[in-house]
Amino acid sequence: MADNQDLTRRDAIKAAGAVTLAGVAAAQFVGAPAIIKARAATNAVNFGIVGTGSRGAYLLKHLKGIDTGKCVAICDVSDDALKKGAETIGTNPKQYKDYRELLSDKNVEAVFVTTPLFLHFPITRDALEAGKHVFCEKSLVFKAEEVHALRALVHSKPKQVMQVGLQRRYSAMYGAARQMIEKGLLGEVTYVQAQWHRNPGWKMKKDVPNPRMANWRLFREYSGGLVAELASHQIDVADRMMGMTPEAVMGMGSRDFMNDGRDILDNVQLIYKYPKGRRLVWTGIPMSSHWSGVGGARTEMGEMICGTKGTIHITIGDDNNKPIGMWFREPTPPSAIEEAKKKKEPVKAGATMVAAAGSRPLPILLGKDLMTGQESFLEKEMKFARLWLYQKGVLVPEEEKNPVDIELDSFFKDCRTGGRPLADLEVGLQDSIAVILSNLALDEGRTVYFNEIDKMGKGPAAPAGKPAAPAAKPAVKKG
Ligand SMILES: NC(=O)c1ccc[n+]([C@@H]2O[C@H](COP(=O)([O-])OP(=O)(O)OC[C@H]3O[C@@H](n4cnc5c(N)ncnc54)[C@H](O)[C@@H]3O)[C@@H](O)[C@H]2O)c1
Repeated sequence: MADNQDLTRRDAIKAAGAVTLAGVAAAQFVGAPAIIKARAATNAVNFGIVGTGSRGAYLLKHLKGIDTGKCVAICDVSDDALKKGAETIGTNPKQYKDYRELLSDKNVEAVFVTTPLFLHFPITRDALEAGKHVFCEKSLVFKAEEVHALRALVHSKPKQVMQVGLQRRYSAMYGAARQMIEKGLLGEVTYVQAQWHRNPGWKMKKDVPNPRMANWRLFREYSGGLVAELASHQIDVADRMMGMTPEAVMGMGSRDFMNDGRDILDNVQLIYKYPKGRRLVWTGIPMSSHWSGVGGARTEMGEMICGTKGTIHITIGDDNNKPIGMWFREPTPPSAIEEAKKKKEPVKAGATMVAAAGSRPLPILLGKDLMTGQESFLEKEMKFARLWLYQKGVLVPEEEKNPVDIELDSFFKDCRTGGRPLADLEVGLQDSIAVILSNLALDEGRTVYFNEIDKMGKGPAAPAGKPAAPAAKPAVKKG
């Protein structure tokens, strides 16, 4: 392999073996919801959903295919959104315009909160107070005081499930990446680079009945901007892959290209300092969607997770795109080859393979691609053929289930068993803390330390039944 950049049959099988454990874990993970389904029909969780806009309708489309839960109620302040929600789920749910009425519906056991960010906390809090399990979309909370208030509230209700909509936590591909790191295949992971670039970025909706609310993402009164809507997913990936949360953040942000009345930033670069010299660098720009990861095969967003022995390029799938995960190994250090020569040991096949591997990615393998050693001749040939096609970039390994389906199914399972979600309260809060402090760093143009959150917002949060007061408008300068 040293002189030949192509993956040989032997290399492919060896590489498959190396990630077998990671893949097995992912395969078990993907397989779990099928078991839940078998039990589901008689014991489905009756749920309601608050906010049937874009994300609410998307979740309802997926919820329709999941029989561990049954939609009995929907709520939105907009008639159009309510109509769309009812049509999408098709179960003739009760329809409410005031979320407090949905919460007092005794038939509702669990609530999905899919409203604009500034309403996440008051609705989640009132739902928990009403005894419901809650699935709240990311970013979990909006303000520092809500971090402390929600933590205290959830801890006082140990029988109620609290899950946050960070679906990468439920992706088999991301699960396999995490397993590879745990098995040491990437060595010491010291750096994550993540981007979410769009071209041209979010557009301002015009000629709509309530323009500010229809464009809530674009106004700091309701939204945490690019950091809350996009970076939140990828900060969570970095935390999970490095197994730690940041100590400090600094950055630069300005509004340069989208001058249509919005007050969020459109051009954001952030650097996060983690313990032991680790870093995350995140960028969000509006005028280009190119991503150099996975050989440029996908645009917009993805993460590169860099370690002393290798790097993973990874990006999530959705209804239209398959997830892609690629593994690049670091070249064997010349010192290791010299060492082997001195000891008069033959340079092993593995070492020569690794020496040439810098420019050739290997796919992150999932369930059906694994070499178990139990295959028939034909199965082995087919797996090898798939590996070869992956390596040539003709095929990519496919997740057997969309992570959104898994996160929803898993939520219902936890409602019944009292299990702890993979994307639980603390995952959601750490993610929200990062979003809140990143925006503070951008607003104030300084390094913000994560322990500052302990002293922030210790006053009372908004009283029950009332939305939290809008955040003070930050002084944002045009860049
Ligand atoms: N996990 C993901 O990948 C993902 C993707 C997209 C959006 N999201 C999140 O989902 C949430 C919603 O985003 P969206 O794109 O659907 O926004 P949206 O504007 O399309 O929908 C929000 C809906 O909430 C309704 N609403 C507003 N106030 C309400 C109230 N008091 N009671 C009931 N309904 C109310 C609006 O009428 C609207 O229909 C956001 O927090 C967003 O970050 C997550």
